[in-house]
Order: sequence, then structure tokens, then C-alpha cells
Amino acid sequence: MKAVLASKNPNKLREMSEILSARGVEVVLESDVGVDVDVEETGATFEENARLKAKAVMQATGLPAIADDSGLCVDALNGGPGVYSARYGGPDLDDRGRCRLLLQNLQGQISRKAKFVSVVCLCMPDGDVISSRGECPGTIAFAPQGENGFGYDPVFFIPALRKTFAQLTAEEKNKISHRGNALKKFQIELESYLNGINK
Ligand code: IMP
Repeated sequence: MKAVLASKNPNKLREMSEILSARGVEVVLESDVGVDVDVEETGATFEENARLKAKAVMQATGLPAIADDSGLCVDALNGGPGVYSARYGGPDLDDRGRCRLLLQNLQGQISRKAKFVSVVCLCMPDGDVISSRGECPGTIAFAPQGENGFGYDPVFFIPALRKTFAQLTAEEKNKISHRGNALKKFQIELESYLNGINK
């Protein structure tokens, strides 16, 4: 089976391919099948956005399509920036600017509790949908630390490790991350789905 990844991110292609190829699913990019689908992430939840993206690419290609949506949810910001994580502070900010804004907005806050969330969704041409959610709890640091990773990694602190995500190697991060957890669950869901349709 071939599945189109609703993303242009090569890191996501690698992660998805590693898991899905073991199940005989070949993951390809939109460009490999000649489409470039621009989906507006208008959903109110990670589940809705992941599904919007996967469904749009499935409809454009007629092939199974897979998407993910992720973000950072901070308790003191009522779960924000959440689905707006990539757009927090507007289009002029880069990752460093968004981290700085987050720290500013949390100044004086005693509660630093937060979590990363990731939802992976596969839409099949016959309407079947498989979706799984992974989370990673942590806190927001008082200053950025570490050079690895991307996005909010320098300010996302794992108390048990006494390190931010940006101070972990990619392998260490994958073991505990929201995306790693969502993909582990997704693998199990996909396994039982494929076993069901192959019966
Ligand atoms: P999307 O899932 O591509 O829509 O982007 C979600 C946004 O959430 C990213 O642009 C990052 O700002 C943030 N984000 C999601 N996962 C991570 C992560 O593992 N580390 C740091 N930031 C993340």
C-alpha cells in the first residue's frame, strides 16, 4: 500500500516511513504523486487539523494519506498556544521569537505546567480513518537552554531529566516525545486495522 504524507517536512517523512514500511506501507511525498495541497488549519483541535490535512490530500490523490498536527499546551495560558503554536505571535516571529514571547507571557506565573501534543491521522479512500494521540508532560523553563531540536524545544523542560528538549539528542527526545508516543500508538492501531481488512 502507498500512503501520501500531507507534509513537506523530510523529518516527518523519515519518522513515518520507519514505522510504516515495516507494515508494507510505502510513504511518499505529495510531490512524488504530483500534487501540492495547501490546507488551512481551521480546526479547533489537533484531531480536526490532522484529519483536515489527511482528508484533503486523500481527496486530491485518491490514495491513502497521512498527516500529523502538533503543538504546545500551557496550563497558565488555558491550553494555549495549542493549535496556534506554529503561528503564536504572528507571521513575523521565528522559533526564537515565539519562545521569547512565551516566556514574557508567563512572567510572574507560578504554574509552569505544560504538555506537547501530537495527533497522527490516516485517511483511507473508502472513508476509514485511523487516528492516534500522543502527549508529553513537562514545564516551561525560565530561560531557553540547549541547542538541539526546533520550535519550543529550548523552553520545554522535563523535570525527571532536569533538561529541556533542546538538551536531549534526537534519539532521547523520540523515546519520550509526544510525536514518538503518537506514532507508537498509531503503529498498534494500524496493525489491527490492516489485520482486520486482510482477514
Ligand atoms: P505543525 O504540527 O506542523 O502544525 O506545527 C506545530 C508547531 O508546534 C511547530 O511549528 C512548533 O512550533 C510546535 N511543535 C510541535 N512539536 C514540537 C516539538 O517537538 N518541539 C518543539 N516545538 C514543537
